[in-house]
Amino acid sequence: VSAALVDGADVPLAAYRDAAAWAGGPQRVYDRLAGAALARLPDRLVGLRAVDVGAGTGAVSRELARRGADVLAIDRSPSMLAELRRQTSGRIPTIVGDIRRLALADDTYDLVVAAFVINHLADAAQGVGELARVTRRGGHVVATTFGADDHPIKAVVDDVLVGYGFVHPPWYRALKDKWMPLIATPPALHAVGERGGLTGVAVNSIEVDLSDLPIDGVLDYRLGLAHIAPYVAGLDPETRKSLRNDVLTAARDLPPFRLPMLVLNGRPSGESPPDAHPPRGARR
Ligand SMILES: C[S@@+](CC[C@H](N)C(=O)[O-])C[C@H]1O[C@@H](n2cnc3c(N)ncnc32)[C@H](O)[C@@H]1O
Repeated sequence: VSAALVDGADVPLAAYRDAAAWAGGPQRVYDRLAGAALARLPDRLVGLRAVDVGAGTGAVSRELARRGADVLAIDRSPSMLAELRRQTSGRIPTIVGDIRRLALADDTYDLVVAAFVINHLADAAQGVGELARVTRRGGHVVATTFGADDHPIKAVVDDVLVGYGFVHPPWYRALKDKWMPLIATPPALHAVGERGGLTGVAVNSIEVDLSDLPIDGVLDYRLGLAHIAPYVAGLDPETRKSLRNDVLTAARDLPPFRLPMLVLNGRPSGESPPDAHPPRGARR
């Protein structure tokens, strides 16, 4: 049982239930982040067996498929995967599953990617350990998370929301205040990669330029995030409209929209990490 489950602060499954809200807002931003996540990989991935873990609505899966890889998408949320299948006309196979216990064989896949998923874990190294376990010797693992500095739009939207009575759900507080800071710097993420059983670890810190996104798109992104979308969906149309207007007013004169992210690249070392979980498979 993971630490997160023990202290009761695990991200609830229901958090990512509203896949339509995600597809109508955050997806546009995450599609761009997926391009940045995969920037160090070749443009042609034909014939490679790839897994997109925590695939959501498929930002990474679609890009891997576009480059010719054979992609399997895994996520804990059945509704996010249903939206992924809808958008890809069922061309990408999906499996409901948890990054902490992947129901996949050891030492199998050429490329395993987890975009903005390990930041949902109390123990990120456990998630990376699973990515490393299922990647074949000589294969490649990519995992991303956000950098430490939030763009001011986040605080602006949060302040307006709180003024309307919004309360951040406890799982989000745990994720944002406790778990994400543990992996938000290159040295910290590097150490997590090695603890998870990766070798040749490289962490790149980049800022994705999203300044071309219209302010409405930026708002749709913030208001469609999993911890906010259910609150916004519960407002009557008038209140929703006035909230949006208040955010637009408060968001004037912000600097260009950019998001800091960290990209971890590595290869499985072939050795079990000391605290590996679950202990199974031939190489354990
Ligand atoms: C921020 S979204 C990112 C989705 C996608 N990777 C992207 O870049 O657009 C996080 C996703 O991770 C999934 N997720 C959260 N915790 C997970 C876990 N323990 N195992 C598998 N998926 C998880 C959520 O359901 C959600 O779809």
